[in-house]
Amino acid sequence: MNLPEFRSVAYSQTTLTELMIPAYANFGGKIHGGILLSLMDKVAYTCSAKHAGNYCVTVNVDGVNFLQPVEVGELVSLMASVNYVGRTSIVVGIKVIAENVKTGTVKHTNTSYFTMVAKDETNKPTQVPGLVLENREETRRFLEAIKRKEIKSLFQEEFDNAKTNLTVEQELSKLAGERCRMAYAQSPITTPTVI
Ligand SMILES: CC(C)(COP(=O)(O)OP(=O)(O)OC[C@H]1O[C@@H](n2cnc3c(N)ncnc32)[C@H](O)[C@@H]1OP(=O)(O)O)[C@@H](O)C(=O)NCCC(=O)NCCS
Repeated sequence: MNLPEFRSVAYSQTTLTELMIPAYANFGGKIHGGILLSLMDKVAYTCSAKHAGNYCVTVNVDGVNFLQPVEVGELVSLMASVNYVGRTSIVVGIKVIAENVKTGTVKHTNTSYFTMVAKDETNKPTQVPGLVLENREETRRFLEAIKRKEIKSLFQEEFDNAKTNLTVEQELSKLAGERCRMAYAQSPITTPTVI
């Protein structure tokens, strides 16, 4: 199939609605987080593959915080749309709501961002169509995705540095007030010799 150079957000916008059945519940009677994650992955795939015109794989998931429990019997709807496209990657924003059909109450359970990458027949990342931004909201989401990418990259750099420089003995004071206890003999702090 010949891919167009650009596609609109509306072209691939997808809503998946599923009834929460008892088999999806945990021992506490609420819906397993993994069930919702799986549905989110499914809708992210559908939306990204439609935009890409190709098979896509999940590369990264941001912002998965389950804000409210979902109950058996509720109707969960996952609304997905392309927020951003790179060369081969697509960021799909997914808003999840749960509706109690009897009371009409609607809960917003989470909004997450799935980064998907399009693959060609040889399983290599392949270019995706650009995105036509048709209104201010779509432009805002695209810009927000750029910001998220920039901040993540700064965070990753800083965290990698912090990990590299972390010395257990020198950070021990941070354990004060934490709910842990050390059950092994500690080695004395050694100061590196400067030559
Ligand atoms: C993701 C994957 C395609 C990257 O392959 P690669 O050879 O490193 O390709 P590239 O470096 O060209 O990256 C491809 C795109 O992925 C993006 N990417 C790679 N890692 C990423 C990450 N951690 N977060 C966000 N985007 C990422 C790159 O920015 C690039 O986007 P762009 O083309 O829009 O600029 C490859 O690692 C892969 O296939 N992973 C397995 C995915 C999978 O199977 N998922 C299912 C879950 S098991």
